[in-house]
Amino acid sequence: MRKPWYHILYIRSPLAKIFLGVAGAILAVVLTIFQFSIEEPRMKAQEDNWNGRSVEKGAELYYNNCANCHGADGKGLPNVAPALHSKYFFTQRIVDVGWAGSLYDFVELTIASGRPSKVGTQWAQMMPTWSRHYGGPLRDDQVLHLTSFVMNWEADALTQTAEEDPFQCFRNAPTKAREGDKSPDALGIKSCLADGTALMPGAPPPTPTPAVATGPRPPQQLFTAMGCAGCHQLAQAQTEDNIGQPGPHMGNLPETADQRVPGEDATTYVYNSIVNPNAFVNAGYVGGIMPGNFKDQMSEEEIDSLVAWLLDPNRPQ
Ligand code: HEC
Ligand code: HEC
Repeated sequence: MRKPWYHILYIRSPLAKIFLGVAGAILAVVLTIFQFSIEEPRMKAQEDNWNGRSVEKGAELYYNNCANCHGADGKGLPNVAPALHSKYFFTQRIVDVGWAGSLYDFVELTIASGRPSKVGTQWAQMMPTWSRHYGGPLRDDQVLHLTSFVMNWEADALTQTAEEDPFQCFRNAPTKAREGDKSPDALGIKSCLADGTALMPGAPPPTPTPAVATGPRPPQQLFTAMGCAGCHQLAQAQTEDNIGQPGPHMGNLPETADQRVPGEDATTYVYNSIVNPNAFVNAGYVGGIMPGNFKDQMSEEEIDSLVAWLLDPNRPQ
């Protein structure tokens, strides 16, 4: 009779049996140790892969939902939204707001819930609510992707010098000192004073000016103090080949202002553009970029003088 093929598996010698048994056991141990040793790097690679994809998804959500206010590069827009891609944001912000948790949690919570309206806020509009839990449009995983994306700016932001930091002071959150050597000076970041102005590292605190009866601020000063200069160039003319960003250039505003809205003369148009920017939005621009709260920040007299100055063809600088 022919022997079946598995006949070769039949081992007669007891010594060979012991030998094979021991070798099998050793092999099993070696394989287990090998599996253990690659498990950690393997998990790490998986995690990096997941994080990388999360940042990518976050980037897309960011460009569609956030870039209008926080800027495509996350460096904020004057008077519209604060910078997130900022050294200040990654080193000092949660200290100034007195947040006990991590920055990650702060970002996640802010995106999820938004910032409900505040009295006398410096920003044109409030930070919207994004999570579905609180009435926003996004799912939890999308909020997490956005959080990963914002946190992904950290490495680059930490290399910013104080001059490069796009940080705009939060008028409601003066810089608080930290323990040890982590003062804003040591961190190389600007600090924010109680009056909402920023101080470069190493600069002496300004001597308080004695309160005197102050009159209306001159238009030149208003144009800078209100942040108009951050969005509008006075020296350049707005033409088809030279379209100002984020706001129109103003060099030729005296000639163009009475042609924008039928029935509005130049003075009325510029006045309305300042107190109610979204009533008329220039072609090529989107509404909601120019802050809508200038009426609360300047007196009627100041606004009138600003309008007259902007429309003066021989505008004194
Ligand atoms: C309509 C403009 C607007 C849009 C759109 C917007 N934000 Fe904001 N965001 C703000 C304003 C204004 C603040 C500051 C609110 C305050 O402190 O009063 C802010 C604050 C934040 C903060 C906290 C910053 C800090 O230092 O306290 C984060 C994080 C943030 N936004 C992320 C996002 C993300 C992510 C998106 C997109 C899903 C987004 N924002 C869309 C206006 C906007
Ligand atoms: C965050 C950017 C931003 C700031 C700050 C800002 N503007 Fe504007 N402004 C815009 C944009 C964008 C437009 C075009 C959209 C529109 O017509 O509303 C505009 C339009 C205007 C116009 C109409 C210009 C034209 O050619 O028709 C005037 C006038 C104006 N702004 C004045 C001001 C003044 C004065 C200030 C400061 C008190 C100011 N803006 C601050 C962004 C800004």
